[in-house]
Amino acid sequence: MSSPPLASGPDGTDALRPLLDTVLDALDTGRRARGGPLPAGGPAAVTAQVRAAVGDILPAHGDPDALRTLVHTLAAGAADPADPLCAAHLHCPPLAVATAADLAASALNPSLDSWDQAPAASALEALVTHALAAEVYGHRAPGAPPDALVTTGGTESNQLALLLAREAHAHSHTHGSTLRLVCGANAHHSLPRAAWLLGLPDPVVLPTPTGRLDPDTLDTALRGLPGPGPVVVAATAGTTDAGLIDPLPEIAARCAAHGARLHIDAAYGGGLLFSDRHRPLLTGLDTAHTVTLDLHKLGWQPVAAGLLAVRDPADLTPLHQRADYLNADDDTDAGLPDLLGRSLRTTRRPDVLKIAATLRTLGRDGLGALVDQVHAHARHLAALVAAHPDLTLHAPPTLTTVLFRPTHATDDTVAAVRRRLLADGRAVLGRARLDGRLWLKATLLNPHTRPDDLAALLHLVEGNTPR
Ligand SMILES: Cc1ncc(COP(=O)(O)O)c(C=O)c1O
Repeated sequence: MSSPPLASGPDGTDALRPLLDTVLDALDTGRRARGGPLPAGGPAAVTAQVRAAVGDILPAHGDPDALRTLVHTLAAGAADPADPLCAAHLHCPPLAVATAADLAASALNPSLDSWDQAPAASALEALVTHALAAEVYGHRAPGAPPDALVTTGGTESNQLALLLAREAHAHSHTHGSTLRLVCGANAHHSLPRAAWLLGLPDPVVLPTPTGRLDPDTLDTALRGLPGPGPVVVAATAGTTDAGLIDPLPEIAARCAAHGARLHIDAAYGGGLLFSDRHRPLLTGLDTAHTVTLDLHKLGWQPVAAGLLAVRDPADLTPLHQRADYLNADDDTDAGLPDLLGRSLRTTRRPDVLKIAATLRTLGRDGLGALVDQVHAHARHLAALVAAHPDLTLHAPPTLTTVLFRPTHATDDTVAAVRRRLLADGRAVLGRARLDGRLWLKATLLNPHTRPDDLAALLHLVEGNTPR
């Protein structure tokens, strides 16, 4: 039996080309077979279809048609964020150029744990991370420029932020006491979870009845904390449920007054940095010690494309790690870049390639235009809801999230409407509990959505709400 071809090397291109045709064809046939934003029938039907199509996952003898079958099956059973009626989550439709770049990343397979596995990829990563850190913090002079690490997303960025906060305090004069996380109830669950993971005390979670962290509530909490122990406050620029931005400058002022460290989770809102029109909403972002960004949300990247921006690169020192096979002292002294301290992971994909391809291909104005488009869609949907006699709008959107509900429906009905649309494969809407009520959530991230699509979405909700 001949060896299967490789993706790179002298024969890689010729081997990939027909396979790519197969993949592209199967993506298309799968999408047509689905015919909507997600497969109809719910989990049982989809599981049965996948099982039937795939059969024995490790057969005694291979199946040359497996690629076509699997890609078709995955596409037929996908919740497709490129369908305008798929609008539940911060789950973006990836740009074609980013996805094509990701193919090159897979073919070349650089691994960013040592220079001898990723010579150009590591140089590219340094360029991109410094540029994006400068986007967050500006070009600060004097002193070492800000830096950023590439992560798998907002969760890993938030974990790293808390780890760096813990280590910064461990090496400061407050040595001996344990760092405490203070955040709003509106913060992403990955923050309290990171505190748990790192063995920190239970976080102080402040109520956020308006959906935003109130600076006076924070101030009172910081005053009332037992003992002088170190504190990291986590604020959010773009909440998961409502797309709201905490009052960043006021929170930063309270943190400074109490000597607390500040982390801002801008996993969602960070994309506004590219838009001249909306960037002012992020005023105060540069006051944070660390900032979570996530370009697989408002950045149109295939998963994964997270970053953690760090104002003071000295904060990254605790990540330093020595492993002789990857960064021996004599190799580093001889000038081979030491990459091991750039992540908690070892083997690491060059997710930076698709990000770089996107930044360079679209430029600031291209990305800014996408942000402005999806923001305009959110405003349009909100206007349609506000004008609708049987629907209630939660609030005008800040980012691209629109919360609404059938006016006279109970929470159980709202939940059932969402599930019915999912089960029928007609629409993917999210849910959020705010102000003591359950809302339907539309998160608009598809720049190609048209006004008619938004009207159709509301029509579906209306048509599936029992009177
Ligand atoms: C505000 C916020 N932070 C963090 C995350 C986690 O990001 P990821 O799913 O990329 O880990 C999310 C996810 O939706 C989020 O909305």
